[in-house]
Amino acid sequence: MRMYDIIKKKRDGEELNTAEIDFFIKGYTDGSIPDYQASALIMAIFFSGMTARETTDLTLAMARSGEMMDLSLIDGETVDKHSTGGVGDKTTLIVAPIVAALGCKVAKMSGRGLGHTGGTVDKLESIPGFKVELSPERFLKQVNEIGICVIGQSGNLTPADKKLYALRDVTACIESIPLIASSVMSKKLAGGSQHIVLDVKCGSGAFIKDLEDAKELAVAMVKIGDMAGRKTNAVITNMDIPLGYYIGNTLEVIEAIEILKGEGCKDLKELCFVLASLMYSSCKGIDLNSARKEVEEVVLTGKALLKFKEMVKAQGGDVSVIDDVSKFEESLHRYEIKAPRDGYISRMNAEQIGIASVVLGAGREKKDDPIDYKAGIVLVKKTGDYVNKGEPIAILFTDLKDKIAEAEKLYINALKFSASKPKKQSLIYKIVRSISE
Ligand code: URA
Repeated sequence: MRMYDIIKKKRDGEELNTAEIDFFIKGYTDGSIPDYQASALIMAIFFSGMTARETTDLTLAMARSGEMMDLSLIDGETVDKHSTGGVGDKTTLIVAPIVAALGCKVAKMSGRGLGHTGGTVDKLESIPGFKVELSPERFLKQVNEIGICVIGQSGNLTPADKKLYALRDVTACIESIPLIASSVMSKKLAGGSQHIVLDVKCGSGAFIKDLEDAKELAVAMVKIGDMAGRKTNAVITNMDIPLGYYIGNTLEVIEAIEILKGEGCKDLKELCFVLASLMYSSCKGIDLNSARKEVEEVVLTGKALLKFKEMVKAQGGDVSVIDDVSKFEESLHRYEIKAPRDGYISRMNAEQIGIASVVLGAGREKKDDPIDYKAGIVLVKKTGDYVNKGEPIAILFTDLKDKIAEAEKLYINALKFSASKPKKQSLIYKIVRSISE
């Protein structure tokens, strides 16, 4: 078999067979297929697409390219959740303790932020002392003891995805449905949980901008999960507006704590309740309405917050910052952005706002860039709000004084204003259920 022929076949719009896909993934993982041939193939996939069968084969080959987690030692139903990436998305910090407090087992591996999107591992590391690197034994023990553990991805999990994702990132091939579906689902299958809930983000701050594409992606991922024997559900959600009011690692932990205390932003809370209800109903085999009642109850009674504290303590974090968030370290500079004119905010480009937070130090442009956990943005006004010229619309936090002007410009340019009130946008577009529901 020759890589040349595989590239040519896909370039000409033909369907690759299972052996050809396996050959590519094995060869690219072990280094016998060079980056330039892999780039040519992914660009051909970008333009020619893949059938459902090819996408499933690609996912399975990627999942098997490294270690597959064995969660059989965990007593109870295991559940995982994944977001395709957005701005201000701190939902894992909230839904994981909610469902763990309800008895589901959350054995979760999460990623770091890259580009304009954040990552759960960075957010958790902003809690002083919190460890995201644990041995597999300790990981399983913690899940069995307290029902929840969130760590960084192990070096051996889906090496094919790590290499391919990095290549896609520098060759403008991220926004492809078969490539996103196989990337996400290979990690979820290798992660080992029996139940999977996917949050497919759609809009200006997401990799997928168009609702029809988001539906196609959600259906593709649910099918892959179900075919692999994992009960998989997906929610397609709005990423035209950043989620919640806080962007940046420490800031997002603070907002997650607010929600776990039963306070905070209504939209963020609603999305978390929907995701947690899907996770819980899948694990327990109960309907969504009954699941939702218990989800709300576990937040109201403070049990979800307690579970979050248990996890932080078990992973070496300083629990006192949860009781008193003013103990988190603060940025050297705090700068208010003022409205440039009167009117309604009619649109926010969430990607540009995410980039503004990266400029302030909250994210990384390249994989190994350091990040400043304290840096970020607090939104004061969002899409649909009326503002008067000169009133504060956002607050920037950073140690990098000379970056404030650039971030402010990006932020202002990310907004559109109108004289009339814009139509309210939906937060949840659609739920795609597992075929077993
Ligand atoms: N998230 C992933 O894990 N992979 C993608 O390709 C896009 C988003």
